Amino acid sequence: MIPQDTISQIFDAARVEEVVADFVALKRRGGNFTGLCPFHNERTPSFHVSPTKGIYKCFGCGKAGNSVNFVMEHEKFTYPEALRYLAKKYNIEIQEEAETAEQVAEKSAREGLMAIVDFAAKFFANQLFNTDEGLSVGLSYFHGRSFSDETIREFQLGYSPEVWDSLSKEALKNGFSADMLEKSGLSIKKDDRLYDRFRGRVMFPIHSQAGRVIGFGGRIMTSDKTRPKYVNSPESEIYNKSKVLYGISFAKHAIAANDMCFLVEGYTDVISMYRAGVQNVVSSSGTSLTVDQIRMIKRYTPNITILYDGDPAGIKASFRGIDMILEQGMNVKVVLFPDGEDPDSFARTRRGAEVQEFIQQNAKDFIHFKIDLLLSETGRDPLKRVAVLKDFIESISLIPDQLTRLAYVKESADRMQMDERAILNELNKLLRKKFTQKSGSTPTEADELDNLFAPEPAEQQQESFDALSTDDIEREIIRQLLLFGDVEIETNYPDPETGEPVKNKVKAASFIINDITADELDFSNAQYQQIFNTCVTELRNNPDIDYRKLTNHPDNAVSGPVIDLIATKYTFSPNWEKRKIRLLQEHEVLDFLIPNSILSFKSKRVRQILKELLEKIKIAESDDISIDLQKQYINAKRIANLIDGGQLGRTIV
Ligand code: UTP
Ligand code: MN
Repeated sequence: MIPQDTISQIFDAARVEEVVADFVALKRRGGNFTGLCPFHNERTPSFHVSPTKGIYKCFGCGKAGNSVNFVMEHEKFTYPEALRYLAKKYNIEIQEEAETAEQVAEKSAREGLMAIVDFAAKFFANQLFNTDEGLSVGLSYFHGRSFSDETIREFQLGYSPEVWDSLSKEALKNGFSADMLEKSGLSIKKDDRLYDRFRGRVMFPIHSQAGRVIGFGGRIMTSDKTRPKYVNSPESEIYNKSKVLYGISFAKHAIAANDMCFLVEGYTDVISMYRAGVQNVVSSSGTSLTVDQIRMIKRYTPNITILYDGDPAGIKASFRGIDMILEQGMNVKVVLFPDGEDPDSFARTRRGAEVQEFIQQNAKDFIHFKIDLLLSETGRDPLKRVAVLKDFIESISLIPDQLTRLAYVKESADRMQMDERAILNELNKLLRKKFTQKSGSTPTEADELDNLFAPEPAEQQQESFDALSTDDIEREIIRQLLLFGDVEIETNYPDPETGEPVKNKVKAASFIINDITADELDFSNAQYQQIFNTCVTELRNNPDIDYRKLTNHPDNAVSGPVIDLIATKYTFSPNWEKRKIRLLQEHEVLDFLIPNSILSFKSKRVRQILKELLEKIKIAESDDISIDLQKQYINAKRIANLIDGGQLGRTIV
């Protein structure tokens, strides 16, 4: 364990431009540096480093972070590894803190499991290459599938012999305990005897993102229909199905470099594609896609292409999973393979370039694909067409970005042979419904939202903050605090005594902080609350907020979102003129923008709090608690009324 003090010391010492310069040739550009991005292939530099902000950002692939993030990303270090690396670079001595007995036990249990599955992977590989049964059954099977020896070794494929307990015996002999064998799922205990889970199967080790073996899939070698075709490791302390993607450790660099992730059905598809030379490919292997898996891909790219074999029933079953990908704000395309082919069989007989070309020519945007497929099934039946429309709108409503949503509506109106406005109306209705469900706001509020999603540019510009979710608005406030904290804004609020409007000049940071703390409102997003608190503390020590304190904050929960928020294209754009114009525009409207977003935040937050209090009152265990809650409720209601009256800035002097 590295003590917190030392971590802060490392963060303070590690200058991002120096850390990056060890890996990337940087050129000075004004106060910043630029270079060729090390995370994706490019010919013109879009990788920027800002010493004052202590961050890097690539405008090609979107990667951004501080000096610690950089070495984690570039060297694939874990957080402690990155800290140790930087400590060494800057001659900072690390005096390790003793770990608690519990931490040691937990770590060694995990390490023990890692060790035993690693042992098993080596055992299976050895069986494959060095035993008669392995060679004649396993290796010849892989060769029959056109897997090359190089690929077989790279994926650490193996073979489990058709014996009850060959692995269990060998592991015990090598000092592993029966308990660990059972916990790892490699062995099953029955009547006090250990049996191997995998017998007579070719073995596919499953690797973590960092490339360590954490589990296995095993494919049967006989045509025995009474036994399952594939057996997988059960969940364990190191293997969590929903958080693993098969192939991710092999694919991650290629995914980032190509800014694209191909998603296939299983082990064999991943390996065949990889062997053909298409390396940016992963699979959720047997289970349906989870949010954790999507987020894992999103770390490398926002683009996913799903490769299907041509079975319509299977495709339709996967639609729900794809909606989840849209919801994560990712771009989804799909490719249908010719009848009877899957990515595995298709790639087996072709070269990488051919596979790539086929994918490129046949990739269809998911939403268009879905409409076309559904429409082709409905024919002219008007009722069925309405059902398709509803389904389509449901998918679109999940896309977080408004402009993307509008683009889909425009493009799809043609396909559906419908009026754009009609689709838009339906979409707005649904969005409103979702919004009211989420925020629990009243119908009148919903009515006010009526025009928010309209496509006219003028209305778009005036888009009220009410259209944003609580999380969006909280993020917006933090962004304003970070980017414009030092800017003076002019406020114009009635004096509490005389009621006369008074003009005031005040720094945006004090305005935001005072106004939010005055009502003792907290952020629903804990990360934003933490950033806010850090700003409050910072502001006390120093009237100008220092970016480096925040971007280099040892806690990723603070530095991560801060980097995301301030690394906007506008502040970094190499095009100076453009940059000035962008900032100017936002500056000019700050007097209006900031109070408005605070008002919107308060209004949303107070309503949430009122709702929560009501729930609590309902289940209060005693009169005392209930009375206390009711007092809180009355106070919150008072604030809600003030906010509805548009009162802000009453604490500003
Ligand atoms: P397949 O049935 O095509 O498996 O499923 P296969 O090994 O390629 O078999 P053949 O040779 O075409 O008949 C494709 C993927 O789906 C997953 C595996 O990851 C497999 O690679 N799968 C399939 C399972 O996880 N469990 C199963 O029971 C079947
Ligand atoms: Mn197959």
